[in-house]
Amino acid sequence: MEGILISHITIQERIRAMCGQIAEDYKDKDLYALVVLKGAIPFFTELLFNSNMTLPFEYGPIKVSSYEGTKSKTLRVEQFDFNDVTGKDVLLVEDILDTGNTLSHLLQPLQQSASSVRTAVLLDKPERREKPINADYIGFTIPNVFVVGYGMDFNNRFRYLQHIGVLKKSMYEK
Ligand code: XMP
Ligand code: MG
Repeated sequence: MEGILISHITIQERIRAMCGQIAEDYKDKDLYALVVLKGAIPFFTELLFNSNMTLPFEYGPIKVSSYEGTKSKTLRVEQFDFNDVTGKDVLLVEDILDTGNTLSHLLQPLQQSASSVRTAVLLDKPERREKPINADYIGFTIPNVFVVGYGMDFNNRFRYLQHIGVLKKSMYEK
């Protein structure tokens, strides 16, 4: 690990503020939080299970897999029935918005069944964007570094760390 980028206490304070904003924005809506597995689990838990959340809401998981083909990566949504969110005000909860490919892939089918769709991301790495997409709620905007912790992983490791740390380049660059 190169060092800590965002400490646990800073993460918690920021997420609490985001929760207050969401509770206000969704007070007349039918909130359905759709949690993108696995990375968004800690963020989602902190975001909606605290005393700033004053609304009844539903939640459910969604999982996206990527298959590395010969030419490009294809994304596929696993076992999700888009009818489950018909008429709901969906808040898509994701750990990090990077190239934007994952969220854009999910937004299109969701927008067809849901009554409204917004996105909440803990981190945004705008320098890496390939798709014209921005999140509605953003925890922190970060530079183009590979981060781990607070749900985010490197080969499925380090998800359990409470702080968000920067991974040493030598770990992933050969
Ligand atoms: P896209 O590019 O589709 O990426 O916007 C979203 C997914 O890419 C993963 N990702 C990361 N995971 N540290 C991680 O642990 C990072 O710095 C990072 N950047 C992107 C992540 O799984 C996210 O859901
Ligand atoms: Mg992810």
